Amino acid sequence: MSTVALQEKIPNNVDLASDTRLQRALEQWQPGFLDWWREMGPEGFQQHEVYLRTAVDVGADGWAHFDYVRMPEYRWGIFLADPQPNRRIGFGDRYGEPVWTAVPGEHRNALRRLIVTQGDTEPASVEQQRRLGHSCPSLYDLRNLLQVNVEEGRHLWAMAYLLHTYFGRDGREEAEALLQRRSGDVDKPRILQAFNEPIEDWLSFMMFTTFTDRDGKFQLLSLAESAFDPLARTCRFMLTEEAHHMFVGQTGIARIVQRSAELVRAGKDPIVEGAIPLDMLQRYLNFWYTVSLDLFGSEVSTNGAAYFGAGLKGRPQEERYPDHVLREGARRVELLEDGEVVEREVAPRLAVNLEVRRSYADDCQAAVDKWNRLVADLGVAFALPSERFHRAVGTFAGAFFDPAGRRMTETEFRQREADFLPTAADHAYVRSLMAHPVTEPGKFANWIAPPARGINAQPVDFAYVRVNEA
Ligand SMILES: [Fe+2]
Ligand SMILES: [Fe+2]
Repeated sequence: MSTVALQEKIPNNVDLASDTRLQRALEQWQPGFLDWWREMGPEGFQQHEVYLRTAVDVGADGWAHFDYVRMPEYRWGIFLADPQPNRRIGFGDRYGEPVWTAVPGEHRNALRRLIVTQGDTEPASVEQQRRLGHSCPSLYDLRNLLQVNVEEGRHLWAMAYLLHTYFGRDGREEAEALLQRRSGDVDKPRILQAFNEPIEDWLSFMMFTTFTDRDGKFQLLSLAESAFDPLARTCRFMLTEEAHHMFVGQTGIARIVQRSAELVRAGKDPIVEGAIPLDMLQRYLNFWYTVSLDLFGSEVSTNGAAYFGAGLKGRPQEERYPDHVLREGARRVELLEDGEVVEREVAPRLAVNLEVRRSYADDCQAAVDKWNRLVADLGVAFALPSERFHRAVGTFAGAFFDPAGRRMTETEFRQREADFLPTAADHAYVRSLMAHPVTEPGKFANWIAPPARGINAQPVDFAYVRVNEA
């Protein structure tokens, strides 16, 4: 399977060869994708040979192939998880009915919007991260960044495939538009705000892959429950790749924590030693966690309720919940009304976004717990800030709370802001640490500890990226 797939123009397990119309459409989209990749993909490394994994199959073992690849020659393919025989709709009004293999007319617009919104985040994150390679802390980390980037490119392919296959002409137009919008561009920004924030340093990148890619995981888990089976199968396979992105963030921050903790234990000041102080890590965490919470939408959401009722988007691992229909009962939701924090009961479907966000928060807490094990002896503990703090979406948007969730006036907030969120000085300091890339195999920047092991059983000092001599 793997050698065959790698030789195909568009590796796939959707039998593209038997659908010549679709194959032609995607082959027409491909040059536009490659133009986008050259213009907006990782800057400065397009001719380097990178030790990358490429998806070549969906089997539990052996889905990935590792080898040196120049990124423009990466085999971005289309892979759907194997169908589950007799799969039934797992939630909503059509609970228990057979899943759909085509798009029902009544849900066409909503499904297209869900797919476009998901699809838009994939190229957006590549654009946000495109200059990071120039400041990499090691070849190992550079390779991980580029791996994340090519896989986000493949996720874009996955969504473009659905648009081309199931949505006719407007699907083709939407697939084209995914290549036209640009992260942070005032005239044609990406759809979601967290994906318009530039990522200019590796601390932000590792926080982004910990918290924002984890939002991606929960969106994909929710869409993997969809009654629209091609979307569900596409997302299930994307999740296997997404796990690596969160690994990059989780272990990246862990290695920063480890390095700073070593210095503190030795009685040294991380600032003097050119490492990152632990309180600065907490400020970055506060920022990236809360902008990621915003991606879940409002606590009370009629859109969320409609998607759930229609069977378009469920909750992560829907089978774990006792009630899959949510027509009865109530959910307690904390809301800000006339400046007061109050508890209200709402119909359970209206609180689906919040339910998904809560399982996301639990998953984030598990990540933070792992970092805390590294500093337990120092009496330091990182913490997720309150869900009221620093919000731009939902009931608490624009109101002022401290990270513990206590209400403040704007004046009080501004006085304390430098304790809560990264300051311009923090950003400048972090960037100053990363002024020069570290590109000697096995060497690491001073602000981060080496990883415990390499990629795909290669040693840590393996040449994960090399200059192509040809
Ligand atoms: Fe992705
Ligand atoms: Fe990702």
